[in-house]
Amino acid sequence: MSDNISSAWTHLQSLPQRTLAELFEGDDARVDTLSARIEWDVEEGQAGILFDWSKTHLDADLIAGFEKLAKACDFAGKRTKLFGGEIVNVTEGRAATHSAMRGVGDDADVEEGQALLARMGMLVEAIHGGALGEVEHLIHIGIGGSALGPALAVDALTRDLALVDVHVVSNIDGVALEAAFEACDPAKTLIAVASKTFTTIETMTNAASALKWLSDNGVPDPTGRVVALTASPERAVEWGVDETRVLPFPESVGGRYSLWSSIGFPVALAVGMEDFTPMLAGAQAVDLHFRDTDGAENLCLRAAFADQYYTRLRGCQTRACFAYDERLGLLPNYLQQLEMESNGKRVKADGSPVDGPTAPITWGGVGTDAQHAVFQLLHQGTHLVPVDFIVSIAPGDALDPAHHAILLTNCFAQGAALMAGGNMAADGKDPARAFPGDRPSATMLCDDLDAATLGALIAFHEHRVFANAVLMEINPFDQFGVELGKKMANEIGSGDGDFDASTKALLERAGLAD
Ligand code: F6P
Repeated sequence: MSDNISSAWTHLQSLPQRTLAELFEGDDARVDTLSARIEWDVEEGQAGILFDWSKTHLDADLIAGFEKLAKACDFAGKRTKLFGGEIVNVTEGRAATHSAMRGVGDDADVEEGQALLARMGMLVEAIHGGALGEVEHLIHIGIGGSALGPALAVDALTRDLALVDVHVVSNIDGVALEAAFEACDPAKTLIAVASKTFTTIETMTNAASALKWLSDNGVPDPTGRVVALTASPERAVEWGVDETRVLPFPESVGGRYSLWSSIGFPVALAVGMEDFTPMLAGAQAVDLHFRDTDGAENLCLRAAFADQYYTRLRGCQTRACFAYDERLGLLPNYLQQLEMESNGKRVKADGSPVDGPTAPITWGGVGTDAQHAVFQLLHQGTHLVPVDFIVSIAPGDALDPAHHAILLTNCFAQGAALMAGGNMAADGKDPARAFPGDRPSATMLCDDLDAATLGALIAFHEHRVFANAVLMEINPFDQFGVELGKKMANEIGSGDGDFDASTKALLERAGLAD
């Protein structure tokens, strides 16, 4: 750790801890100072998201301290490298060009991204136009970053109408694939095989079984029903997919950052390119904000300041995200991979050990359901858990407006209650009914939850992850942590390797030992 970084942390640790009540009492402008919108153009004017971080413990001293830390970590320089298409994934010698897919980045990367998306658009339109016969269903096969984004976006954006019925299958557990088969007519089904590497065992095994299903059900030329989404197009062609149905994406787009590339094909097929493109536009609005805004006015960096404060200065081991929106039910799963696979590291980018905890454990759920399940611990448990709330002002339903009003008021009431605390006993003396309060939350208040807003929300979290990584000096773009288990599974599968007594006994019991 450089002297500047270490003295920035020492200074941050020395700052007094003030309660949320004290912070609000002493500052009439607190809400204005710590809330701001990111907006984008829509036909009627501007739409956007309000990011309210006023119910966190950030204050002017902490912000100044974290801005000093960001400077010492060369946040601005690293951000320039990110958007300039330079190598930021140092352990794998790669750039990270996901924002170029949304039109923000180095010119050559943006041009390449646009050409690849145009190619995807042509295939989507051809399929909608009947070029591959009648297509009612798509079974999208992928795992991790090749599945979580499509699953989230399809679920969020096709509640009213899906041009094609999409089933995302990731697990190697055949129960998942069988459920998709059950729901689809093989004669009217396409298979998308989504794999950056086109080698992942779960995906390739599921893909082979999907081809067999088509063939068993009398579909002639099953590989003619496959679309490949990959950064290894030559492997897809070798596997049997015709080049015209291989949609490549750049190697520099990481798996968990790949929704914007051809991995987004199922979303585009389900909603149409006219509704897929706004998702990129919403993300682009956040890219531009993140690229062009300095200091704590940069809302992704501001969120990272709060994240670092809670993780490193207050010892919080988890952060929770509750979307008060049924359509965002898969968001916590998506964020888990984005945040924990990116920043769950124990060494810095230069290989030296980290100086403190890295990514907190991301978890969450949907409000108001979660209130009746896990909020007890948030209000009265012994863990301090910073909470993010996400909610849309416009309803997603056409029922009595009372539904949405109750949803919104519950969301706001939870943030207020976590902060205020209190005692529900008439005499204020019953400890079981006492709430300590001073529990932090942030609120993302969306005008509406449409494709652009979803894109903006995801891009916000991507840049928040990057900003956190810079402050911790780690590389968020590799994921070697998932490799060892994969290697051992291969060794077990091939009968190689010498395992511990417990694993041997389990293998024997399951009939998998030699
Ligand atoms: O789990 C590790 C990982 O490499 C993820 O980062 C990635 O999203 C997933 O596997 C799938 O990999 P692929 O797209 O190459 O099949």
